[in-house]
Amino acid sequence: MSHFDVSAVQADFPILKRLIRGNNRLVYLDSGATSQKPISVLDAEREFYTQHNAAAHRGAHQLAEEATEIFEAARGKVAAFIGAKVDEVVFTKSATESINLVAYSFGNADLGTKFHIKAGDRIVVSEMEHHANLIPWQELAKRTGAELVWLSVTDDGRLDLSNAERIINAKTKVVALTHQSNVLGTINPINEIAKYVRNVGALFVLDACQSVPHYAVDVKELDVDFIAFSGHKMLGPTGVGVLWGKQELLDEMPPFLTGGSMIETVTMESASYLPAPKRFEAGVPNMAQAVGLGAAVDYLNRIGMEKIHQHEVELTKACIERLSQIPQLKIVGPTDMELRGGVVSFTLDGIHPHDLGQALDQYGIAVRTGHHCAWPLMKKYRVVATTRASLYLYNDLADVEALVTGVERARDYFLGR
Ligand code: ALA
Repeated sequence: MSHFDVSAVQADFPILKRLIRGNNRLVYLDSGATSQKPISVLDAEREFYTQHNAAAHRGAHQLAEEATEIFEAARGKVAAFIGAKVDEVVFTKSATESINLVAYSFGNADLGTKFHIKAGDRIVVSEMEHHANLIPWQELAKRTGAELVWLSVTDDGRLDLSNAERIINAKTKVVALTHQSNVLGTINPINEIAKYVRNVGALFVLDACQSVPHYAVDVKELDVDFIAFSGHKMLGPTGVGVLWGKQELLDEMPPFLTGGSMIETVTMESASYLPAPKRFEAGVPNMAQAVGLGAAVDYLNRIGMEKIHQHEVELTKACIERLSQIPQLKIVGPTDMELRGGVVSFTLDGIHPHDLGQALDQYGIAVRTGHHCAWPLMKKYRVVATTRASLYLYNDLADVEALVTGVERARDYFLGR
């Protein structure tokens, strides 16, 4: 079935050779939380530190020059990966920081600018948001007096757009949605939603944490204004996130963090700021991490995002089909592959997800259990938690079979069969 040589990919990830609890082969099904890293990413970071380490954009010496060039080359790779202009890519420490950056910047905006949010304005989110794309907007609403409103989710795990025109109304200043739910796997129809957003002239912020790592995302095709994603979910290091924004917006937005290297001029009383991306990169940046992310982009490009996507579609289909054969198991989220990505959440009658997660761990299977930082969604589906398997390019059908067997064994153990 494979669209590329999966065993060759697996060989690039040293951690996959590890034996895990009980001397089991590691079956890593938690890439939605964080992905594993190939040797080339680890090497790129190590080479940065061993050969070129210096503070980028500061210093007249050779190492500073090299560090700057390598850091900026990483920005170029990330920009090309998402079809963006290079100056539209801002490096942050995480996707969470990227979203907070936008929310705080809007909160700092002067009256009369398009970013200013005030009482009577509306911020629209959805019931399927990760806390990172919910709480910053709750806080912004609190600080400004704006109203927070949300699109709800249907029983089969889709965004309910039946009242979208009423929710995204003339008062709406910001719409912040996830591209793909980290719990349900649902991929939202962004172009369709963008029409409602454009009709009312609002700004559209997209949480792309679960999409950019898994299929080709081109910011020119998505009719949005900002996207946020993290490096560590796409084979890159921790400590680096990305904010993409349209150049004309980023250049006008007030900064979030202030300090060194983001200024044009400074006096004792005031400062003026450089254009993006520097305006949003105060302080010495996470250079080695950005360089590692550049290497991750190279790795993904080498395999090809279309092939990675096809591979994940086939694995996800198999995973849903096989898990659905377990009578006590319920999938939480869409079961058809239309607009659906490779995370599969489920519950098992009579067994708490934490107990199931621990049992699977005994067989070397790593899944995530809990509310997945999406508490309102758990409430919506009246579950306290789910078990979530999330797939990536280094997974194969044997991993899916291991999960199914593990769930059946755990069920038999807990239900005393
Ligand atoms: N946001 C990550 C997840 O969904 C941590 O697991």
